[in-house]
Amino acid sequence: MMSRAPRILVFDSGLGGLTVFREIVRARPDAIYIYMADDAGFPYGAWREPDLVARLLDQMAGLIAAHEPDCVVIACNTASTLALPALRARFATPFVGTVPAIKPAAERSRSRLFSVLATPGTVARDYTRDLVRSYAGGCDVTLVGSTRLAVMAEAQMHGEPASDAEISSEIAPCFVSIADSDGTVRRTDVVTLSCTHYPLLLARLMALSPWPVTWIDPAPAIARRVVQLLGPSPAGSLPGEASALFSAGVPGPSVRQALAGFGVDCHTPATAG
Ligand code: DGL
Repeated sequence: MMSRAPRILVFDSGLGGLTVFREIVRARPDAIYIYMADDAGFPYGAWREPDLVARLLDQMAGLIAAHEPDCVVIACNTASTLALPALRARFATPFVGTVPAIKPAAERSRSRLFSVLATPGTVARDYTRDLVRSYAGGCDVTLVGSTRLAVMAEAQMHGEPASDAEISSEIAPCFVSIADSDGTVRRTDVVTLSCTHYPLLLARLMALSPWPVTWIDPAPAIARRVVQLLGPSPAGSLPGEASALFSAGVPGPSVRQALAGFGVDCHTPATAG
């Protein structure tokens, strides 16, 4: 077990990873956090796979050299479902990924009808399709690749919220009714938040749902994984600190204010990209 506070790098294409970061901080309040938003590459959802792998390897090389983290959390489903094997092969630092919560969704769905709400990249991945094959037997799974929801979440953090109608049309495909051969009607009862940006919109998603469902946010499970890897906070440890880096440069006042709400200082140097 290490005697100094661990350094944890939390990485996303934008501000969505803050939804994972806030859970990890609850579990390891003493750690030193570096939050990296590769906002110059945002959104990742539409990138060609080989280009995105190359970008992630390149970004990570700079970040690991500059910050020497004890652990990297890829707080992005679009990146994790694609590049975790390549990152683990290239770097000795342990990586924790964020991937669609398909097993928990299958366990929690009573109607055996659940939806995976993600980016187009994540729903297209072999990794995601394999999770469905391995863990969702007996369930009807609707994969919904939203082209705009991550952009809407990011815009909301920049002080420009999307309209109710815009959000409703993005989530509408998640809500499915199926009439079985015996006449029973089953409805979607669980939706996974499989892009880390989506929990930023959770209150609005709940208010705009055509009917109530259980929304699954994987962040608490990721925080538990980090504690498994690094151990718990030692007794009597002092609170750590968190700073953020943006590949596109210093963000505006609304983002800085949002970051402060998450307990993160915004630093100027962009060390990657
Ligand atoms: N936050 C990222 C995820 O979890 C995706 C946002 C993007 O498209 O860049 O998938």
